[in-house]
Amino acid sequence: MHRIFQGNIFSGVINVADERLIVALDFHTMDDVKKLVDELGDSVNFYKVGMELFYSVGADVVEWLKSQDKKIFLDLKLHDIPNTVAGGLCSLMNLGANILNVHASGGFTMMKTAAEALHKESELRGVECPKLIAITVLTSINQAEWCGALKISEQVVEFAKLAQSAGLDGVVASPQEAKLIREACGEKFLIVTPGIRPAGADINDQQRISTPAVALQNGATHLVIGRPIRAAKNPREAAEKILAEMAGI
Ligand code: C5P
Repeated sequence: MHRIFQGNIFSGVINVADERLIVALDFHTMDDVKKLVDELGDSVNFYKVGMELFYSVGADVVEWLKSQDKKIFLDLKLHDIPNTVAGGLCSLMNLGANILNVHASGGFTMMKTAAEALHKESELRGVECPKLIAITVLTSINQAEWCGALKISEQVVEFAKLAQSAGLDGVVASPQEAKLIREACGEKFLIVTPGIRPAGADINDQQRISTPAVALQNGATHLVIGRPIRAAKNPREAAEKILAEMAGI
């Protein structure tokens, strides 16, 4: 779907960045953001802005990333009653991010109301509708910590089917559930996977993890990667290694 990466990154020839890679900007200052984005240069085109950064610097970071021609996943994980989430998303739509998200555990009516409101609002304004995806079960939760009645993988698939029937474009899930979601929800459904760790990397607080290659082989459309790139001694080299692993899959 997004296999537009071409060229040999080690020879420095990059035609277009592989937009399946989304780098998480988990910082709280614009200086740190600018430093990393500058360092990664044209090797990365898609960034995730989460709550730490958005609560610190607000809409400025989205504006700045857009001015650099970068795509944005605004990961604010909305979770409230249907009317409040729909209104919140319509306000966020003003910022022009490419992907927005809500929690699937907010329920079918919340997700459907949110998706319908976004589509209606984008039509009214004549702007492209951002993709709306749902968080299933956080990748930091393992089976021992999980207190649901279903197994985590079963619950994730149930959430994915619920999100799809509510009119959402995809889900956030662990790479370990990507295959089951792909089977249940078909080819076009977005599967965005955090919990990505290159072989040998520190897993930090993530639990349900896989390597970049395995996540893509399992059907992930986008990989969200933070610390393995951001905290590396040489972030560009770390990103290029990951991109090399992704190339060809
Ligand atoms: O540093 P790391 O690669 O673990 O970063 C993963 C990013 O993905 C973080 O910004 C985290 O908030 C986000 N995320 C996640 N699990 C989810 C949804 C989002 O780890 N289910």
